[in-house]
Amino acid sequence: MKIAVLPGDGIGKEVTAEAVKAVRASVGNEFSLELQEGVIGGEGIDTVGDALPPETLEIARNADAILLGGTGVPEDEKRPPSEGAGYGLLKLRKALSLYANFRPVKLFPELLDASTLKPEVVGGVDMVILRELNGDLYFGQPRGIEKDADGKRFGINTMRYTEGEIERIAHAGFQAARRRRRKLCSVDKANVLETMALWREVIIEVSKHYPDVELSHLYIDAASMVLIRNPKQFDVIVTGNVFGDILSDAAAMLAGSIGMLPSASLGDNNKGLYEPVHGTAPDIAGKNIANPLAAILSGAMMLRYSFGLEEQALRIEAAVASVLAEGYRTADIRQPGTQLVGTREMGDAVEEAILRASDGARQASVA
Ligand code: IPM
Ligand code: MG
Repeated sequence: MKIAVLPGDGIGKEVTAEAVKAVRASVGNEFSLELQEGVIGGEGIDTVGDALPPETLEIARNADAILLGGTGVPEDEKRPPSEGAGYGLLKLRKALSLYANFRPVKLFPELLDASTLKPEVVGGVDMVILRELNGDLYFGQPRGIEKDADGKRFGINTMRYTEGEIERIAHAGFQAARRRRRKLCSVDKANVLETMALWREVIIEVSKHYPDVELSHLYIDAASMVLIRNPKQFDVIVTGNVFGDILSDAAAMLAGSIGMLPSASLGDNNKGLYEPVHGTAPDIAGKNIANPLAAILSGAMMLRYSFGLEEQALRIEAAVASVLAEGYRTADIRQPGTQLVGTREMGDAVEEAILRASDGARQASVA
């Protein structure tokens, strides 16, 4: 199992270390792991002058899967967006054609009170936000800041989607819905934007191949409201790059904290990029207080989607559930009566729970 490990910036380093620990513990010596580390983001800029160094891209290309922490540094504020640390990650997703970004939003029952939303609203939330990752405003040309004839500056970005791009994310959405409760909600802004009118048209065309999936449509503004008012009605949401970026951060609060949300970015084969939805949180970096569970759960998604190791993925997920049940909490999900732990301690607890469970399984099979 060839895995590229790209910890990136800020808390990315800390949480990725814990994810690697969990993956190692879960796989045990059933398979051999070959880990290759690379620099990306701010670290790439600082060390070799590039947010996505060619060597890192090469490591990622040669790997079966990529485990990433996060990219983004405070200095980005002084750089043009397309030269910032965060853009290194966008380039990596694009270069590897990882266009389907799955962001599952599931509330662990133990965290019912960790959300700022009422328990009766968030209890039982279980949805997937499928964000298109290779198109939209983030990549469309032209882009930039220019000057008009009077010397006044204007900024320009282009929302652009080809029908091919919409078709492939639509198929990914319908297929994901088929594996779940067979409901797909497409989120767009078809009432105002031509690109989004095309989005809706193509989604409807593709839906003809999936008569067993119930399709609905919402405008992004309404979807944002429904997400907070009645999130349980969603099964799979499919949306474009920008709307998916925003909706998934909002949806994180349904799961108690953005520190709980993993993600998988997939293309047409099994290769995938796995990363927590949260950013690099420079303000808490290096303090051993970040929540590593999103990164750890991303490790589970990697075992499931890139390596087909369902049992090993479940082991990690069950271990996370069990440490939460035991009362371990990082600061972001702290509740009265629970035990506050740091990043490493949380990772240790998960590792122990995985090892305990796999020992149990081995003894059961011997008996
Ligand atoms: C995310 C992040 C990234 C994005 C940033 C770091 C470039 O916000 O993965 O959601 O915009 O996609
Ligand atoms: Mg984001």
